[in-house]
Amino acid sequence: MSVFKGEVTTLPPDKSISHRAALIGALAEGVTEITNFSGGFDNQSTLGVLGACGIPLTQEEVPGPWGGTIRRVVIESKGLWSFRPSGAPLECNNSGSTMRMMAGILAGQPFGSELVGDGSLMKRPMQRVAGPLRDMGAGVELSESGTAPMRIAGTKELRPIVYRLPVPSAQVKSLVAFAALHAEGESRIIEPVLSRDHTELMLGLEASEVDGERVIVVPGRRRIEARPFLVPADPSAACFIVALALLAPGSEIMIRDVCLNPTRAAFLDIMIAAGGQITIENRRTVGGEDIGDILACGGGVLEPLSISDPGVVARVIDEIPMLAVLSVFASGSFEVSNAGELRTKECDRLNALAVNLQRLGCLCEESPDGMRVSGGVRAQQSPVVVECFDDHRIAMSFAIAARATGMAIELSDSTVVGVSFPNFFALLESLEV
Ligand code: S3P
Repeated sequence: MSVFKGEVTTLPPDKSISHRAALIGALAEGVTEITNFSGGFDNQSTLGVLGACGIPLTQEEVPGPWGGTIRRVVIESKGLWSFRPSGAPLECNNSGSTMRMMAGILAGQPFGSELVGDGSLMKRPMQRVAGPLRDMGAGVELSESGTAPMRIAGTKELRPIVYRLPVPSAQVKSLVAFAALHAEGESRIIEPVLSRDHTELMLGLEASEVDGERVIVVPGRRRIEARPFLVPADPSAACFIVALALLAPGSEIMIRDVCLNPTRAAFLDIMIAAGGQITIENRRTVGGEDIGDILACGGGVLEPLSISDPGVVARVIDEIPMLAVLSVFASGSFEVSNAGELRTKECDRLNALAVNLQRLGCLCEESPDGMRVSGGVRAQQSPVVVECFDDHRIAMSFAIAARATGMAIELSDSTVVGVSFPNFFALLESLEV
């Protein structure tokens, strides 16, 4: 069994905050400087699409605070209507956030656009995007099955909207907010289940609790002044490294400057409640976001995880693959319900987990909105091939279990980790004692 020790100062910058910093920079008036922008493929897709829409931006490597280099992105814009027709389809590659949030912006521009992506993205549901944008007055055309290519007929005459989110989705909340910034008048977005709140924080939107629901007020056509952004490390990437430490007895890993926004860090509470030896140090607020250092140690006994509260599911939606694999390897079982959204991610994550855990000898029962795994993993005669389904989080979850336990697992496509965590394998290598 391997042991992992060390201090991590090179975790990828947060993917969600990087997307939003770039998009808000493009909507603002003036020069936006983003320090520690993510080099992951998804965030680079957002920059690619902004560049194709005529937004002037530069990206350079500069010395980081811990040695090494970080990325600095500078965007210069003239405000809400600085976008230009690209003359070609806008390529979002694997990035659902790029396609959906850009759709909100393009709905408010007085020209037509087309958004496309890779095989995985072209299968993801986009009716949730089209619905509110059509209600606001934009034209949106999708394939017969409600997927991209997405053709948007934007308009400068967008109407404000009162929109209750039918699914707990921060991407949908954000795209409606970005469209609403272009509308004449005030919009309201109602969230029955709280999803990540970076867009509200970064735009300084007013939000309050009314009858158990969250109501976000978006003023239309208000000038957005450019401001600098500093992107903290990605908690969804930290989850993999924490799981590595917990699964390998004797391990001790310190991860610096991680975003601990409560809408993102619930995986830590879940792991701690299950017996994981995790402590948070140096908690502070930077640029409106809670950040801190995470110390994770291996060797404790982990209770099986069972996740069912819809509010909790929304707060760990990207961490469920790793939590599932961690739980199955540590305790032999795992259960989740109220998580049908997992079927709409880079792949159908409930099915991807079931297919791969079955290959490892587990008993898996799927339901429309969840799964139950029991029986534990059993050593196989020959290496087990994990099918990655074009999904970075599926690939990394099983890679962590393989590294920590020494089990012979091969990934069908290890390059997919670059979507959010380009230095994933190099970092694991550097932590192995
Ligand atoms: C994201 C929201 C979530 C998440 C995705 C990033 C965001 O998607 O799964 O990785 O940055 O807003 P949904 O909004 O579809 O839940």
